[in-house]
Amino acid sequence: TSIVAIVPAAGVGKRMQINHPKQYLTIGNQTILEHTVETLLTHPQISKVIIAISAEDEYFQQLPLNKLANVQVVEGGEERVHSVLNGIKAIDTEQTDWVLVHDAARPCLTHQDITKLIDSCLAENTGGILATPVRDTMKRGVAHGQQVFIKQTEEREQLWHALTPQFYPLLQLKNAIEFALSNEVTITDEASAIEYSKHASLLIEGRGDNIKVTRPDDLSLAEFILHKQEDEICA
Ligand code: CTP
Ligand code: MG
Repeated sequence: TSIVAIVPAAGVGKRMQINHPKQYLTIGNQTILEHTVETLLTHPQISKVIIAISAEDEYFQQLPLNKLANVQVVEGGEERVHSVLNGIKAIDTEQTDWVLVHDAARPCLTHQDITKLIDSCLAENTGGILATPVRDTMKRGVAHGQQVFIKQTEEREQLWHALTPQFYPLLQLKNAIEFALSNEVTITDEASAIEYSKHASLLIEGRGDNIKVTRPDDLSLAEFILHKQEDEICA
């Protein structure tokens, strides 16, 4: 099985409230994007990484990453889904069977979790995503004037947080995204396109420390997690 990874990295990182995209924030001596791509590139089951970069990006070309033979760059799109689709379109469908899509903003992904996702999906011959079970009691709220009131408690046993990577047969994902876009359905992750096409997806329990750097506090958290993971490897 030939597997290519796609890394959407064309966002502006608005919620991070800094004046450059969050994937270029530094942890240790590497940017978040470099941490993410290095983890994917060094995984034995992944042959190549395609990175979607914004047309306005001035940072990527300064990274040594852009000269690696098994890294390819495509232009990002308006929304994450368009960035992912541009990556998919750059792949030779004869050479590649499956794609693994992973957010640039999740630098704490481990090889152990990548392997778990890939092996579980290949064993079932079904695509799927890394996810974590919801921990807290979940409430559905309804707005009433200025306040939000509880409508009901949702069944937590069935609720999961969707993470990345998300792993699907290349053509299944391409067709699902194109079908959803042509019907103007909002697609926030690969699985939502797959759901719309009524294909099956597996929920594979991943590590809770595979966070998405989203808000200012997340940078020091990601730094802490990466240090802790280094100690795990050494132990
Ligand atoms: N992304 C992308 N193309 C877009 C929008 C987002 O490739 N048009 C990427 C981001 O670079 C990020 C991933 O998708 O790696 C997840 O998106 P998110 O965490 O929302 O990042 P941003 O959109 O950059 O952040 P924000 O929503 O706060 O602006
Ligand atoms: Mg966003």
